[in-house]
Amino acid sequence: MIDQTKVSFQHDGSPYSNRFNDIYFDISQGTQQSECVFINGNNITARLAKGPKTFVIAETGFGTGLNFLLTLNILKKIWQKSATDQSNPAISTHLHFISVEKYPLSKAQLAQSLKLFPQFSELSQALISQYPEQPDQDIDLTFFQGAVTLSLIFKDATQGLTSLLSHQNQPHSALVDAWFLDGFAPAKNPDMWQPALFQQITRLSKEQATLATFTVSGQVRRQLVAAGFRVEKRPAFGKKNEMLHAIFQHNPHSGKGYQQRPMIAKPQHVSIIGGGIAAACAAYALTKAGVKVSVYCQDFSVAQGASSNHIGALYPLIHQQTDDISLFYQQAFNYACQYYKNIKAQGFDFDHDWCGLLEISYKPALTKRQQQFANTSVWPKDLVHSVNKVQASQLANIALDDGGLFFPNAGWLAPGQLVKQIFNAAQATHRLKIETGCHIDKISQQANGKWRLHSATKDYTASVVVYCGGAQGIPLNIIKQMPLSSVRGQVSNLASNEKMAKLSTVICHKGYVTPANNNLHCIGATFQKDSFDITSKAEDDKFNLDMLNKCLPGISSWQLTDIVSSKARLRCMTPDHLPVVGAMPDIQAHKTQYAHLSKDKHWRYHESTPVIDNLYLLTGLGARGLCSAPLLAEILSADICGTPYPLNNEQLFNLAPNRFIIRDIIRRKFDSSGTTKAAD
Ligand SMILES: Cc1cc2nc3c(=O)[nH]c(=O)nc-3n(C[C@H](O)[C@H](O)[C@H](O)COP(=O)(O)OP(=O)(O)OC[C@H]3O[C@@H](n4cnc5c(N)ncnc54)[C@H](O)[C@@H]3O)c2cc1C
Ligand SMILES: C[S@@+](CC[C@H](N)C(=O)[O-])C[C@H]1O[C@@H](n2cnc3c(N)ncnc32)[C@H](O)[C@@H]1O
Repeated sequence: MIDQTKVSFQHDGSPYSNRFNDIYFDISQGTQQSECVFINGNNITARLAKGPKTFVIAETGFGTGLNFLLTLNILKKIWQKSATDQSNPAISTHLHFISVEKYPLSKAQLAQSLKLFPQFSELSQALISQYPEQPDQDIDLTFFQGAVTLSLIFKDATQGLTSLLSHQNQPHSALVDAWFLDGFAPAKNPDMWQPALFQQITRLSKEQATLATFTVSGQVRRQLVAAGFRVEKRPAFGKKNEMLHAIFQHNPHSGKGYQQRPMIAKPQHVSIIGGGIAAACAAYALTKAGVKVSVYCQDFSVAQGASSNHIGALYPLIHQQTDDISLFYQQAFNYACQYYKNIKAQGFDFDHDWCGLLEISYKPALTKRQQQFANTSVWPKDLVHSVNKVQASQLANIALDDGGLFFPNAGWLAPGQLVKQIFNAAQATHRLKIETGCHIDKISQQANGKWRLHSATKDYTASVVVYCGGAQGIPLNIIKQMPLSSVRGQVSNLASNEKMAKLSTVICHKGYVTPANNNLHCIGATFQKDSFDITSKAEDDKFNLDMLNKCLPGISSWQLTDIVSSKARLRCMTPDHLPVVGAMPDIQAHKTQYAHLSKDKHWRYHESTPVIDNLYLLTGLGARGLCSAPLLAEILSADICGTPYPLNNEQLFNLAPNRFIIRDIIRRKFDSSGTTKAAD
């Protein structure tokens, strides 16, 4: 028989547990504290609004049912909105809310507690009317004509979760999308927070399941990490300063160990080789996360490599289909737009104009592509949409012969200024040191695991090294094992004139032309594979101007003599045109450890990725570094600080440095000794 006698009501009417000497919720904060921790901590509103077929929330400690009512109320609002908003498809989610409660309130206690929330009276009534008089048998309650099921399991949390069926070892048929880890704090209720509870959480979690809890205790954090979660402290609400947010991203049963990124203890200090947008974003992300950073750059100042152009276009690479590349760049672009606005809002200003970007259909194949974009609605219109020639001319403020695809949130910025300002933002944390004029010509790992960065004049010690050296650093030892290549590109800067001064959007053709920044337009760019030459060439200026005149005939009256300056720099490319971010793989160990993938690409491996300890890469940014660098830096910071990743495992693997070696094993590029087979 369940003991319900240990609850009393305080003078403000809120329930108090005499058993645990703790409150059920802080009524002085209304419902905001619970909302902040459980609802926002699991991003419930946005996730339910997407209308998943089913969504499963599991909670430890049902108590008064406040968290359940908050969730129900969100769903109700989403349904109401979708019923009135014609542009929104009807949402037909089935919500399954599972709550395990060892010491349930009686029906009368529940009713008395819920009087505190008159705003939910209708929903509370629906709950109270179905709540058992004697809450001792597990029971399913339904709401909204069966669209919501509430399973109440009146047992100890671990025991209750153990009784739930899940398809063990099959992550895609696991059960739970979001965890509300309630129950009184570990200090007051140590019996609940046992390793067995976390084992059940691992067993029942779907990939990417989220978890939120009031407690930030170190013991709970460590147990969550051991259970496969990446954990982050977040500010909470009111009297509660902090909470935990976590995502299940290390499922030990996934069978794809090579997709598991290594976990390291968050270091105090990280050394970065680089000086461009990759290094700047990495330094900012890490310093913000509390890590001290030293940047080593070979040039006399930062932003002298590929990230030094006078003008660069900020836009994503979007194909007609939602393939991996386009989905990554869509997310990276949205992230970058916010990120740069945020840098500017902090007072770190740089020349830019979010004036949109037009990909002009200058040849029949592109007109066909444009038509296909117009006929499908794969991408949101505010990302990209088709425009006809009249609309294109209006957007460009210049007469154009063709329509194209328009990216309304894209634009241009001054990369050199931006990089310096991101470094300034990092410097404002007082955790950044930059050494310029320092070419790292070799890195070596010592017996104690520490790194030595060797330069002509001095050696530096580092506990964690991040390579952000772009194409110029490709020859660096260890890094040169990666399939990175250099593609030289030259841009030409031209004096503005009356006609071109009107240009009000970036135009991409085979190359591109930008609106003026300080009376200079930028046109580009050349592509020369495997070249490391950064001297400007007159023939490349001519190529850029000829290309503009061929693709957009008559748009300008520019002559070669209008070219004020030009610059050649190197793009760092990867074989699949996606960048790399993550730990440097131990390539030889991959060949032996995952050899069976050459016979069966679905072979299940639980062994996690063998890596070169404490060496990371953020590079291969190709021709879209301005778009991808901020999101990549966030992933790097998650790698190094153990916090949740902004992407799921499959997406992360598309960016992982070891993806090339895994693909090569699957494609049988090696013989049994692990040596690359000679080409036929
Ligand atoms: C002509 C051209 C036009 C482009 N246009 C656009 C555009 O419009 N939009 C866009 O998004 N992208 C564009 N890009 C691509 C973009 O510039 C790159 O993706 C981005 O700048 C790469 O940044 P990064 O930090 O990786 O490399 P970089 O900016 O090259 O920085 C690498 C830094 O590392 C330093 N370094 C290297 N090795 C060492 C070492 N061993 N020791 C010490 N320091 C070292 C270098 O000196 C350099 O400062 C263009 C590129 C080119 C070449
Ligand atoms: C802070 S209260 C819950 C608050 C609740 N979410 C609400 O909104 O009312 C904690 C709950 O956890 C329950 N609990 C404590 N230990 C438990 C255990 N081992 N298993 C299941 N529930 C437990 C308590 O009975 C209590 O109802």
